[in-house]
Amino acid sequence: MLVFHYFCIILHILFSKMHIHFAPLQGYTDDVYRRIHNELVGGVHCYYTPFMRIEGGGVRAKDLRDIRPEWNQGVNVVPQIIANSRKEFDRLCDIIIENGYKRIDINMGCPFPLQTRHGRGCGLLQHPDIVAEIMQRVTELTEQGIQFSVKLRLGLESEEECFSILPLLNSTPLTHVILHPRIASQQYKGEVHLDAFRRFANECQHPLIYNGDLTTLEDLHRIETEFPHLCGMMIGRGLLARPSLAREYAEGKEWTLEQRIHLITRMHARLHEHYASIIPSETQLLSKLRTFWDFMEPTFGHKTIKKIQKAGNLKNYLAAIP
Ligand SMILES: Cc1cc2nc3c(=O)[nH]c(=O)nc-3n(C[C@H](O)[C@H](O)[C@H](O)COP(=O)(O)O)c2cc1C
Repeated sequence: MLVFHYFCIILHILFSKMHIHFAPLQGYTDDVYRRIHNELVGGVHCYYTPFMRIEGGGVRAKDLRDIRPEWNQGVNVVPQIIANSRKEFDRLCDIIIENGYKRIDINMGCPFPLQTRHGRGCGLLQHPDIVAEIMQRVTELTEQGIQFSVKLRLGLESEEECFSILPLLNSTPLTHVILHPRIASQQYKGEVHLDAFRRFANECQHPLIYNGDLTTLEDLHRIETEFPHLCGMMIGRGLLARPSLAREYAEGKEWTLEQRIHLITRMHARLHEHYASIIPSETQLLSKLRTFWDFMEPTFGHKTIKKIQKAGNLKNYLAAIP
């Protein structure tokens, strides 16, 4: 009996898959995209909303629409917020909790100056005092049944910044931490700092998720082999480019090009149908739909994608898409 028990544990270690988390991508992974992806292919443990923020004293209508419970039904969604103070943090949490959510992801990774120069995103990493105030509230809300995670990058200016706030994160009851191992000036380009990620993994006392440049099954297998103790991997652009990637990982087998293209065309048809029903202007509909192809050049080639980008009206666009 005991031998069988250990045999099962070994099988589990060998064949269990890590959870795949769909990264939030402002302008791409809205409620419609998330729902259609989940329905047609899935393979993803959970989807994060692009960050909700305070702007001009309030929250954008677009951000509120994105978390409406009725539009997110059946999809495992984690709303994300970005804040530069305890006040902003409290306001955003209240809105999310009022909408019935019990999980919130805190953005400490956004590298864009529009946010960082106001102390949001990875700008927050240089203010441990504010992080401490926010973590205090996280602890209180956790006691009331709300779960929090943190998504961060190494730092605004230096990769040491994440280490200076790590003790604060370690002493807060978070469900997990997601680390994108780059600093702000790199945005989402250049080398990922795997050594810094490893150091962080050694010191982080929470379940940890790796994020950055995972675009193929080999990439996923390389990271899970190199960091077997992770609790998951988060994919952004890799899933926009290849929506079946998480499903392929779950199945342990690559899809053929034909299968992948079939899925992409089905997803596009559904997105078109849905957006057309809510966006009356053809120009706006076209610019919304066009983004679907932004990361798909590796699958369809430069010529096709260029044609899609250059199509000046819906008719030419529909003729250009695969
Ligand atoms: C266009 C764009 C929008 C993004 N929006 C967000 C966001 O709203 N919140 C967030 O935490 N990260 C955001 N990110 C970062 C991604 O979630 C992810 O961390 C990044 O793309 C690296 O992962 P990847 O290499 O798998 O794409 C954005 C990235 C891009 C390129």
